[in-house]
Amino acid sequence: MILSIESSCDDSSIAITDIQTKQLVYHKKISQELEHSVYGGVVPELASRLHAEALPKILEECVEYFPRLKAIAVTNAPGLAVTLMEGITMAKALSVTLDLPLIAVNHLKGHIFSLFIDKETVFPQTVLLVSGGHTQVVKVKSLNEMTTVASTMDDSFGESFDKVAKMMGLPYPGGPVIEKLAKEGDPKHYKFTIPLQQKKIFAFSYSGIKNAVRLAVEAGSETDYPNIAASFQEVASEHLIRKIKKYLVENPPKNFAIVGGASANLYLRTKVEAMLAPYGAKLHLAELKYCSDNAAMIGRVAVEMYMQEDFIEIEKLQAIPRSPL
Ligand code: KG4
Ligand code: ZN
Repeated sequence: MILSIESSCDDSSIAITDIQTKQLVYHKKISQELEHSVYGGVVPELASRLHAEALPKILEECVEYFPRLKAIAVTNAPGLAVTLMEGITMAKALSVTLDLPLIAVNHLKGHIFSLFIDKETVFPQTVLLVSGGHTQVVKVKSLNEMTTVASTMDDSFGESFDKVAKMMGLPYPGGPVIEKLAKEGDPKHYKFTIPLQQKKIFAFSYSGIKNAVRLAVEAGSETDYPNIAASFQEVASEHLIRKIKKYLVENPPKNFAIVGGASANLYLRTKVEAMLAPYGAKLHLAELKYCSDNAAMIGRVAVEMYMQEDFIEIEKLQAIPRSPL
């Protein structure tokens, strides 16, 4: 079995995965959403202190599995330096105490492998990764062959929901709150401009939408919020669709996936399904509970890396806050 640790942002999570069956044996996550909620976003120092409290508590529940462990895996990149370090420090201590090899897992690969938790499926060739920290289109062949073909130039998709919620005085994380509020509004009421339409580049941008929404929020009152939320969600999603559509013309999909915390958004899922319909392509999604950050997805990648004997020396394991796939 492999014990995996995730602490790249505001979720403290540990999982145990069986190497042979690839099944999840144990999984727990303590989310810090409530603590960060008052600040409208994640406060790194607070997050790091909360990880230091939560991770040992979860670890205590895993002691019975220690004799059967073959490796310790941990998210080392990308993420917040101070919070990544909490997981890494624990992983190193376990590695030394239990005399086990270390596996360093990229968080973005983790999100992609959330598709494979407790289920076998084909590798989707194109993955849309939408989270609080990332908005990327990834071309996937295998674990070791993943290329980012487009990413955001400024804010991420999920982050823009967080910021819009904050403008309206709504709690963090903004994604689920804005999606709910949008259900009561008209997505065509406000005509926010879809970004980068004239530009040929394959990239995303959310700062323009965010500023347009800010003006609408400032000019309006609370009764306008449902329409603002609905119109914002429409433009934020349509921006992704328009860009990806162009990419799919050259790269017709059979299997397409959306992963990451914001893949829970049903409005976006419906739009992506419509986009894929002409290709008869299948949309792959992780189970809802594995969309947001968790150690189960890190453990699932770690099983593949273990089989490739892809271990890292203890001195070389460090936090890499900014890292590609
Ligand atoms: O993957 P994740 O848990 O953490 C990162 O790796 O960043 O994603 C969290 C992000 C937050 O920005 C949150 O607002 C967003 O995902 N999110 C959503 C929804 N649920 C979560 N965004 C839009 N619609 C949702 N339903
Ligand atoms: Zn994430």
